Amino acid sequence: MDRAAFFNTLACGENPLAFKPEHEPRIERLRRRLGDLRGKRVFEPGCGGGPLTARLAEWVGDGGRVLALDACAGMVARCEKAVSDHAHVQAIHGKAEDMEIENGAWDLILCFRLYPHLEDAGAFLRRCPAWLAPGGELVIANLEGSAELNAIHAGLAGVRQDRMPAGEDLRRRLSAAGWHVAETIDEPEEFFLRARRG
Ligand SMILES: C[S@@+](CC[C@H](N)C(=O)[O-])C[C@H]1O[C@@H](n2cnc3c(N)ncnc32)[C@H](O)[C@@H]1O
Repeated sequence: MDRAAFFNTLACGENPLAFKPEHEPRIERLRRRLGDLRGKRVFEPGCGGGPLTARLAEWVGDGGRVLALDACAGMVARCEKAVSDHAHVQAIHGKAEDMEIENGAWDLILCFRLYPHLEDAGAFLRRCPAWLAPGGELVIANLEGSAELNAIHAGLAGVRQDRMPAGEDLRRRLSAAGWHVAETIDEPEEFFLRARRG
């Protein structure tokens, strides 16, 4: 099974990648780290079935905007359902590496549980600066540390090769590409990296 087939199969499941009760404190910690998002414009590539998109819809409120994107059409359909009550949220189909979205329009690009699955992370990162509004931020976040996530992926055909880099490695990579990395956390129950264009 390849990655696309893996996510297609998941998208057909009952509630793809729904948060478990034990995730809630981690989601709350993520919300705190992201700060006050009211009125913000958030681009969420790799939205999946939209478990976080639905939260983002609330966190940005009616005055904000969320653009959710996924490479798997089934996931986009699930995400659309999850946020159907929110006119300020849109879910679209496409690959993060080659999607055309508005330039200079996003206060936050949030890669939540996406980064290790990108086919070409370098190409994606090169596109982000043009998408961000002045002062905008890129956040790469997971609910596990890199070692824990890689251990989970090791047992899953389809995403076995999808390795999350250690926080320090990703920080170095982004810094070398001209980002100012303001925060890097790689702990067993959290991966969080926040960067701005330097
Ligand atoms: C582990 S899932 C996480 C989904 C969602 N963020 C969540 O937390 O439930 C990763 C998602 O990224 C999507 N994906 C993988 N590669 C992608 C790419 N290059 N561009 C956009 N989405 C991608 C997959 O289809 C899948 O829905």
